[in-house]
Order: sequence, then C-alpha cells, then structure tokens
Amino acid sequence: MALSMFLARGRLCTLSSRPKFLKTICASKILGHSTSAKMSLKFKNAKRIEGLDSNVWIEFTKLAADPSVVNLGQGLPDISPPVYVKEELSKIAAIDSLNQYTRGFGHPSLVKALSCLYEKFYQNQINPNKEILVTVGAYGSLFNAIQGLIDEGDEVIVIVPFYDCYEPMVRMAGAIPIFIPLRSKPLDGKKWSSSDWTLDPQELASKFNSKTKAIILNTPHNPLGKVYTKEELQVIADLCIKYDTLCISDEVYEWLVYTGNKHFKIATFPGMWERTITIGSAGKTFSVTGWKLGWSIGPKHLIKHLQTVQQNTVYTCATPLQEALAQALWIDIKRMDDPECYFNSLPKELEVKRNRMVHLLESVGLKPIVPDGGYFIIADVSLLDTDLSDMKNSNEPYDYKFVKWMTKNKKLSAIPVSAFCNAETKLQFEKFVRFCFIKKDSTLDAAEEIIKAWSRQKF
Ligand SMILES: Cc1ncc(COP(=O)(O)O)c(C=O)c1O
Repeated sequence: MALSMFLARGRLCTLSSRPKFLKTICASKILGHSTSAKMSLKFKNAKRIEGLDSNVWIEFTKLAADPSVVNLGQGLPDISPPVYVKEELSKIAAIDSLNQYTRGFGHPSLVKALSCLYEKFYQNQINPNKEILVTVGAYGSLFNAIQGLIDEGDEVIVIVPFYDCYEPMVRMAGAIPIFIPLRSKPLDGKKWSSSDWTLDPQELASKFNSKTKAIILNTPHNPLGKVYTKEELQVIADLCIKYDTLCISDEVYEWLVYTGNKHFKIATFPGMWERTITIGSAGKTFSVTGWKLGWSIGPKHLIKHLQTVQQNTVYTCATPLQEALAQALWIDIKRMDDPECYFNSLPKELEVKRNRMVHLLESVGLKPIVPDGGYFIIADVSLLDTDLSDMKNSNEPYDYKFVKWMTKNKKLSAIPVSAFCNAETKLQFEKFVRFCFIKKDSTLDAAEEIIKAWSRQKF
C-alpha cells in the first residue's frame, strides 16, 4: 500500500532504474525511516554561490509582469530604439556569413567602431584587438573583470548604493567587498540633488590598504543618478595610484548626463589608463537592453585576463547583434556634434522626462533626489505614511514591502533601493524607492494618473 502510494506520487520511481542517491531516498520512504525526502549532499550548491540566491530583478520583474501594472521598475526602456539601429539588424539577418560565429574577443567591425569612438576621449589610440573586449552586456564585462583580476582574499571597495550584482560577483571570486556609503549633505529646504551625495575623502582613504585590489566605480550612477565631478574622481584616482589599485569603472550611462553636468572618464586621468577597465553597454547606449552587448576598454595587460575568462566561458557574442551595433555606431560617430546624434538627442529627450517625474513626485509631497544623469529617480516614500501592516513578510526592509504593496494595490511598480545596499547599510536607504523614467509619455501619463489619484485619496 505504502509502496503503491509512493510509486503513484513519484510517478517514475522504480528502484532499479533510478540513480543510487535516489534509491536511498526511495528506500528510506518505503521503509518509513523518514517522512521527508533526504537530499543528496551532491545536490548542495557550490560554496561560491552560498547566500546569493535572491535577486531583486527576478523578484520584482515577476510582480511587474501583470499587464495591468504600470512598470517604472526595471531599467527597461519602452520608448522605441532608433530606427537605424533596428534597420541595421534586420538587414544583417539576410547575410549568411553574419549568422555564424565571429572572433571571440569581439567582432572585427565592432571593435574597430568602438576604438574609433573612444579614441576621441582617450587622447591615445586604442588597439581594437588588444584593448577592447566585447561581452554579454556590461554584466559580462563586470564578470570577466572580477573573475580575471580579483583573487581570493583580495579586498574590493564598493560604493553604496551599488548596482546590485557588484557584491555577489566580488563574493563569487572569493574576495571581500569593503563598503563605503555615499552620504548626503543636509537638505536645507532646497531641492535634493544627486550631487548632494558624496564620498567623504577621509573615510574613503581609510578603506584603502595593501590588500585593496580594486575599487568599483559607477558614474553616472544607478540608482542615485550622481555624476561624479572631476575633483571627486581625482580623489579616487590619487588613492588608486597611491595604493596601486585597479579601478573597474562602470560607465554604462556615459551619454546620459543632464544640463550643467559632464561625464568624465577616470581612465583618462594621469596614471589611470594602465589600471582601469572602463565598461560600456549597447543596451544603455541605444536603448536596446535586450541585445545584451557590452564592452570593456583598458590596457592590454589587463584586457588579456578578461579575454581568458571570456574564451573559457561564453567564448563569443552574437554576430548579427555585433555587426548591427557597429553599423549603428558608425552612423553616430560621423555626427557626434549634431543634435540628431543619439548620444545627444537621448539625454535631451530624457531630461524632459526627468523634469516631469520631479514635478510629479513633488506635487504629492515627496522630495525626490533630482538625478544629474542616468534614467532613474529615487524618492523617500516614507513621507507617504502608507499603512503596510497587512504585508506578509515583516522581516523585509520597508522599501521591499512598500513596492510590493504599491504594485498590488496601486498597480504601479518601482524598485526598492535597499536592493543596492549591503546588509549593514540597508537601513540607511530602505525608505527610498527607484522609479525608471525612460518610458513613453503614455506610460508616464498612466503613472501620473495613479500617483495623483492616490494623493487625492490621502489628503
Ligand atoms: C550600473 C549598471 N551596470 C551594469 C548594468 C548591466 O548592463 P547590461 O544590460 O549591458 O548587462 C546595468 C543595467 O541596468 C547598470 O545599471
């Protein structure tokens, strides 16, 4: 009886056809030794991924997938990418050779286009084959850089808040993340700007020592929208040189800076080229996040280690996407001073959307942190005094509960900012949520309607 019930429940469980470890499970069930199936130790996760199983994008993208939800969560543009970018890709699909594998470290025409583009900023020539690596998104570049350059026991300085994958990637390499928070100046009743959030130079210096292998920098910053000034970057550069430290500079939002701000590349500072990997993303450059193409630029003595990781992991990236990206880049490289160039037109378009979001959030009594770059805006939502008492998981940070509540009850999604923090700093940022504004006007209209109706109900 017990046997037949177990066979029925387990469907395929016949003792002779199953691997040995499952036989143990089956036998112990049948003999009644254990009511719960014992998992083979061989099924356990590798130590390097211990504790890294939750992920904000997986969790919140699932919630926002409900079509009735207005999604200002993940950094996912719903505006149309430039027409020529899409046209280049559709033309390429018809060319047989471009549907096959290409050079592992980057399709020749793409690395050439990237070297031509970035030479304009680096005052020196960039060797397309040795100093550029094309990767699976900026994620691929971060992974290759961290796996290729960081050793077990190394210390890596991570600035809080940080793009969420930095910490798990550093931990997977067996290294120790050393966190330093950006701190805000007092508000003094004025508008809150991302530039009010700064590193304390002395505190930063105290994080460097002989074990410091690298610092991960992100400018323009996600989620704050901070664009580091030349002076701020100089402080970081001086410390990197003093302590002979690498710099992994995530610059995926490099074109997205708003009036009065300028993006600086730390790799162009004296003494920094030889120690810096600069990371870019096609997804962010051309609003095609689904292409998942990125690149690392740096000296050949560093890039070669990233190449080693790549050749033994993904080996190569999609050829049609790389060729289309190269062709699209050529179009904009030839008109860099033209307002029509996407590198100029996208920030102009987004600045209007940013201003709209600032006004909207302010109109309901919030104090958003006005971003100088990127396409996110964060605001302290505790001012809304929302009753979250019916939220099930009371151990979660405030912002997790708030976003879940808002998605369910108001049909508006966002991302909790404590997801960009280490365990010790979550409390400092858990009152903030992040809204993405690279959205069509109709999406922003829908968000506005929700937020305004909500504030009318409250007051
Ligand atoms: C700061 C930052 N770095 C890296 C990435 C990943 O970029 P990609 O989609 O090219 O892998 C993102 C994506 O949102 C990001 O915001």
